[in-house]
Amino acid sequence: MKSPSTPESSESVDRVIHEVDGIQEYDNKLPNWWLYTLYGAIAFAACYWYWFETARLGASPVEAYQAEMDRAAADQAMALTVGDATPEALAALAKDPNATALGKQVFVSTCAACHRADGGGSVGPNLTDEFWLHGSAPERIYRTIASGVPDKGMPAWQPQLGALKTQAVTAYVLGLVGTNVSGGKAPQGEREPISAR
Ligand code: HEC
Repeated sequence: MKSPSTPESSESVDRVIHEVDGIQEYDNKLPNWWLYTLYGAIAFAACYWYWFETARLGASPVEAYQAEMDRAAADQAMALTVGDATPEALAALAKDPNATALGKQVFVSTCAACHRADGGGSVGPNLTDEFWLHGSAPERIYRTIASGVPDKGMPAWQPQLGALKTQAVTAYVLGLVGTNVSGGKAPQGEREPISAR
């Protein structure tokens, strides 16, 4: 039904489908650009679903993130070279952002279960205070981490992590020493202040 009283062109107005308080709503054709956008979105969603959920041809965001982190860790490892774990070499590594970044990754994934992510300690001792069971000198800390204290529940890490990651995580632990995070485990062992090293 055309409505001759409307000022709009009669081609776009098929019929009034709704009228409330003198306001008339027409059943206009949706613009093509709008429809194509809708159809395009539907087609995209179907392809996306097939690609990522059904056929699993592409990496999900989580997998892509993990792959990127692995690549970054590999790059960091490449930028480092393994030398002997002398006190000087360990002190230098503790200042190398590549080493401490790699060490932090190792710490969070491997050590945090027993020493807490911030080093405050739970099963294992607090690594952020000034008290040490096995010595606070860099080479002592390295030896504890590399060879472990197997009969006390601290695994030997060098065989599992390799020399590079063991040195990197030592470098990271050296940076934790003396940070005294709050809520950390009560001191264990002898007091060995940093200044005494
Ligand atoms: C399964 C639990 C566990 C894991 C995982 C673990 N540790 Fe330990 N760690 C311990 C325990 C328990 C001790 C205390 C050993 C003792 O009583 O002699 C310890 C001691 C240490 C010490 C010596 C602390 C001191 O007071 O002398 C350092 C350093 C250390 N761990 C670093 C690490 C690092 C780095 C990692 C990861 C590569 C790690 N630990 C992973 C349980 C763990």
